[in-house]
Amino acid sequence: MIHNASWRAPSNIALVKYWGKYGLQLPRNPSLSFTLSACYTDMQVAVEHIPVTPGVSVLYEGQPRPSFEPKIRLFFNLISDRFPWLKDSMVSINSRNTFPHGAGIASSASAMCALALCLLEIDGQISGHKNLLDDDWLRAASEIARIGSGSASRSVFPIAAIWGETVASDNSSDAYAIPWGPQLAEVYKDYRDTILIVSASEKSVSSTAGHRLMEQLPYADIRYSQARDHLIQLCRIMEKEGDEMGFAAIVEAEALQLHALMMSGPQPFILMEPATLAIIRKVWSYRRETGIPVCFTLDAGPNVHLLYPSRHQPAVMGWVQDELVGYCSEGRFIEDRVGSGPEKLA
Ligand code: PMV
Repeated sequence: MIHNASWRAPSNIALVKYWGKYGLQLPRNPSLSFTLSACYTDMQVAVEHIPVTPGVSVLYEGQPRPSFEPKIRLFFNLISDRFPWLKDSMVSINSRNTFPHGAGIASSASAMCALALCLLEIDGQISGHKNLLDDDWLRAASEIARIGSGSASRSVFPIAAIWGETVASDNSSDAYAIPWGPQLAEVYKDYRDTILIVSASEKSVSSTAGHRLMEQLPYADIRYSQARDHLIQLCRIMEKEGDEMGFAAIVEAEALQLHALMMSGPQPFILMEPATLAIIRKVWSYRRETGIPVCFTLDAGPNVHLLYPSRHQPAVMGWVQDELVGYCSEGRFIEDRVGSGPEKLA
């Protein structure tokens, strides 16, 4: 018998960054992210009980991708106590992304989130326990996604999510993310994220190597405690309208710190491109001149996420077209926004 599940799972962009981990993908500091809308993974998973030749096969955009299989096998080994049927099944995965793979737009977040949702749904079909989408089910999905890729734990929830223990919420946990959308002021529930594709090529440092680097930095503990403080401050700011400039200051500090950490190790990485820096300077002068609270954030790559309230969309997009498109690879950018979370596909 073949079991099937299909899910669409969004990417997310961290406002307070997770960088540094221990144990089974547990975070050294809590993180907070916006769930995105236009950047997502669509995935179909088929599971067939074949005890003689269990294994994994991956199609990405319709083509075989054996290079993805070792990471997925490792993930399956880590979760095989939870899903024992993985040990004697053939799992066929077929996925596609709406954004370039490996360009610092967390593709592992959307892919691992989609995979966790598919596996949990199939587990329900096999075991007969189908509590699809209730709170415990979503929490389990977040926990499984976390084991695949830490940031994926946050993609399970609409609008915004917090992953990692913080005094900002009694329910927070290092093991899974919690929804943070309901706590936000309306302005943040509709924030825009225009992603300027400075480069769509593969990342030159994996996030695994980046997290490992943190173990070698003498100021890692100071970074973790600052991230904890940033998260509390940002939660307070985002509960109310009116301090989008305060939001901008913390979000930009987080992005620059992430990159500064990567530049500071014994084997430094520079993930910004000259165009990244040029865009950052443009953001600062535009914000100063117009008073529009647009800000930037960066993931572990050169692309720039411009975050701003939706009411400023016409002005910001005009500015992007006039002044920033020239910095983008082949003029590419993605108009994204805060999104409504994963969706079960027919
Ligand atoms: O989930 P990972 O292990 O790929 O780490 C992602 C880390 C950042 O994207 C750089 C920050 C974050 O919190 O998403």
